[in-house]
Amino acid sequence: MKLSIENLKEGIKWWQEGKWPNDYLNHEYYSIYESRTDGLTERWLQLTLERLVRWKALRSSKPGNTKAKFARLIETQLPDLRTEYQRIIDISRGEPSIRSLVWQDISKLYEKMAGIKDGSAVFASKLGHFIFPNVFIVMDNLGTQVAGYDDYWPGMVNEWNLFQDKDAAFDLLKNEIERHSLDPIHTLYPYETKIIELCHIGDKWKKTKKGRGAPNYSSSSKQFQPPPFLSGIEKSMIRKISDRAKPGSISLGLGEPDLPTPEVIRREAVRVIQEEKNGYTLQAGLPELRQRIASDYAHLDLSTDQVIVTAGSQESLYLILRTLVEAGDEVLIPNPGFIAYPMITRMVGGRAVTYRLPAKSDFGFDLDDFRSKLSSRTKVVICISPSNPTGRALSRDDMGGLADAVTESGSNAFIVSDEIYRELYYTPERPASISEFYPRTIVVSGLSKSMRMTGWRIGWLAGEEAVMRAALVLHGYVVTCASSISQKAALAAWTDEAAVSREEMRAIFHRRRDHLLGLLRNELGLRCVTPDGAFYTMVDVSAYGDELRVAEAGLEHGVVTIPASAFGSESKGYLRISFCADEEKLSEGVRRIGEALKSLERQYHTR
Ligand SMILES: Cc1ncc(COP(=O)(O)O)c(C=O)c1O
Repeated sequence: MKLSIENLKEGIKWWQEGKWPNDYLNHEYYSIYESRTDGLTERWLQLTLERLVRWKALRSSKPGNTKAKFARLIETQLPDLRTEYQRIIDISRGEPSIRSLVWQDISKLYEKMAGIKDGSAVFASKLGHFIFPNVFIVMDNLGTQVAGYDDYWPGMVNEWNLFQDKDAAFDLLKNEIERHSLDPIHTLYPYETKIIELCHIGDKWKKTKKGRGAPNYSSSSKQFQPPPFLSGIEKSMIRKISDRAKPGSISLGLGEPDLPTPEVIRREAVRVIQEEKNGYTLQAGLPELRQRIASDYAHLDLSTDQVIVTAGSQESLYLILRTLVEAGDEVLIPNPGFIAYPMITRMVGGRAVTYRLPAKSDFGFDLDDFRSKLSSRTKVVICISPSNPTGRALSRDDMGGLADAVTESGSNAFIVSDEIYRELYYTPERPASISEFYPRTIVVSGLSKSMRMTGWRIGWLAGEEAVMRAALVLHGYVVTCASSISQKAALAAWTDEAAVSREEMRAIFHRRRDHLLGLLRNELGLRCVTPDGAFYTMVDVSAYGDELRVAEAGLEHGVVTIPASAFGSESKGYLRISFCADEEKLSEGVRRIGEALKSLERQYHTR
């Protein structure tokens, strides 16, 4: 019998000594289930390939066994894997487990997976584990040296059914995870398959450990492993795609204004560098600058102590979530929404709960859905208007409804209002701030977009004094203060000259928006969202297949766009296209998108 508490303890020790991430992959399961939200999509495939590499399932002495080769092999099998995936979900009526299935139910899926890498049980068990963690037991030659999975699986499941100490084993593993993991245990955490795997490894190790030391389950026991709060947090899709652009490509990907910083700010920066001593400022920032920021929110009647100047609004987002959120607190974030929201939420140990901005209503606010996501555990609601990625702004009615819903929920939650795009609008009125509707609002904003100062790193955080006092401690230890040169130059953003420059920029972006929408709709016949602000439009490319493929085809044709599923499941089938490029580039960019779409049409017809 391999399944015993003693073996489980040995297996846990083996893992600890082998330096496998010590939350027993709880964190990884968040990411495995998240990548599978919409089934076995192209995005799932990409993330799974990365994971297969990390979990050492692609290792082979055979030359030519590269990641690219397996990417192609799995891709060709994807339709079959999808069919089997759906069939198994259907027969087990939801997430399957070893209790709801017999070997015959999964043998076909197993055969498909084993066929991808020459009958490799190790490869197939790991790939299977990423599809159904509660069904497929991870096998590793080092740990088990088991060859025939079709014998191993039913044997182990049989042994599991006979195992007397299941409850004690659950408790042992659960306590271990709780001790190490920053996240609450994932609701679908695969206890059974994990216990079987750990017992098996423990049994094997007991017999071989004398003189051998801990087997090296990860690539090297000396190799650095990120701590659990950072593991699985990868470079954003935006960077990944942009980094792959060919020379000469047109970028409609990044959200960074292409126009120069206003002259008045640049002049002031040069003067300050030449004429002034530029030491540290107060940690919260220059009092004059904080006063000007406070004056932008007259309705809040802020004192300078209620404003912190940060190194960009990205720092503000981190500060505020780190300050407000404790382990297990719920953070409501828009779907689709800026990628940093769920990532930072995870880093600080919170639980991201998404509210839908439905694609079918052009990503407008859905009060009923929002209300249904509030709970007594909601600590923070993130609200953004105008939005990245959709460009949509919340109307005053939306804001009123949203604020009332939060108040009525009794959660006493804070609203974090990301207003980084508030100065860039195409509506007759400047979009409102939720802080006009809900007093417990913390404003996050900055000059990156409104003054084209992305590289200058000036942002701010403003709101309740006690919260700002706590956030300031963190800010002080992390960055001390924002750049003194940038802060001094930023004062010029409140001059008349800067205001004129802001108006000119708004007019330029308004023209570009209309130019781009005209081309996408009239030349390419695509459906796209009319943005109220910011510099993005969401374009429906679902007729051409998976948006990742469309973005890939764009890259081939020299134009960078972002597959919008990176911002949440609601924007699947869309590309986010930014208009941080002049009209000539936009025309050429759209022409290239057209070529890319034609190439996809050709592929469809020749299949
Ligand atoms: C919605 C949103 N919030 C915050 C930021 C961070 O901007 P910064 O740190 O430059 O102020 C960005 C940048 O793209 C953004 O799109």
